[in-house]
Amino acid sequence: MTITIDTERPADIGGREALLDRAMGEERFLKPSQRLRDGRDAAQGLSLVARDGGAVVGTVRLWPVEAGGRPALLLGPLAVDPAHQGAGIGSKLMRRALNRATAFGHGAVILVGDAAYYARFGFDAALTRDLAMPGDVDSRRFLGLELRKGALAGATGAVTAPQLPAAAVPALVWSDRAAA
Ligand SMILES: CC(C)(COP(=O)(O)OP(=O)(O)OC[C@H]1O[C@@H](n2cnc3c(N)ncnc32)[C@H](O)[C@@H]1OP(=O)(O)O)[C@@H](O)C(=O)NCCC(=O)NCCS
Repeated sequence: MTITIDTERPADIGGREALLDRAMGEERFLKPSQRLRDGRDAAQGLSLVARDGGAVVGTVRLWPVEAGGRPALLLGPLAVDPAHQGAGIGSKLMRRALNRATAFGHGAVILVGDAAYYARFGFDAALTRDLAMPGDVDSRRFLGLELRKGALAGATGAVTAPQLPAAAVPALVWSDRAAA
């Protein structure tokens, strides 16, 4: 097995979605983090895949958000094909993504996930203590990592996603007009 980590390409999207279905199932669409991703693009250069030959066997993406008014990245979903788990692919994806985010000048990453897994990369619930994800999130699973020291210091308030472009919300515009 020769695993390579690479930037996701358009041709990987089908394989990535099939992998997410196998690793996480349909309930992935119901997660609070998904509300911050729907209709938006991942951060430039921060969608990575792991490949075994031509097959996508791992995926991680990071998304631009504001955390209590501070620019940050939301990490997820991270998933490795069940047949390939436990071989270090998830860790490779995480380290490559975090190194790349640091190199691109990002200051902080947040995520919702198992602290027992993400602590090894430096994630800590203390950094998100005063932040609020949309929806109901177990505070022990809401974790942060500073890529630049102090990037989350004092961050307080809601985690929000960038505004959707107007073209992405035609139904809303239409109903506003109808109500006027
Ligand atoms: C979590 C996941 C991405 C890890 O990928 P992986 O390639 O298997 O991970 P690695 O091989 O790098 O690391 C394996 C180690 O992580 C541990 N681990 C894996 N999932 C864990 C979890 N949820 N909680 C705690 N530890 C976990 C393993 O026990 C193993 O420990 P060891 O190093 O002491 O033996 C993968 O198991 C997966 O896709 N799971 C389903 C989707 C998911 O839960 N995604 C994360 C959302 S929180």
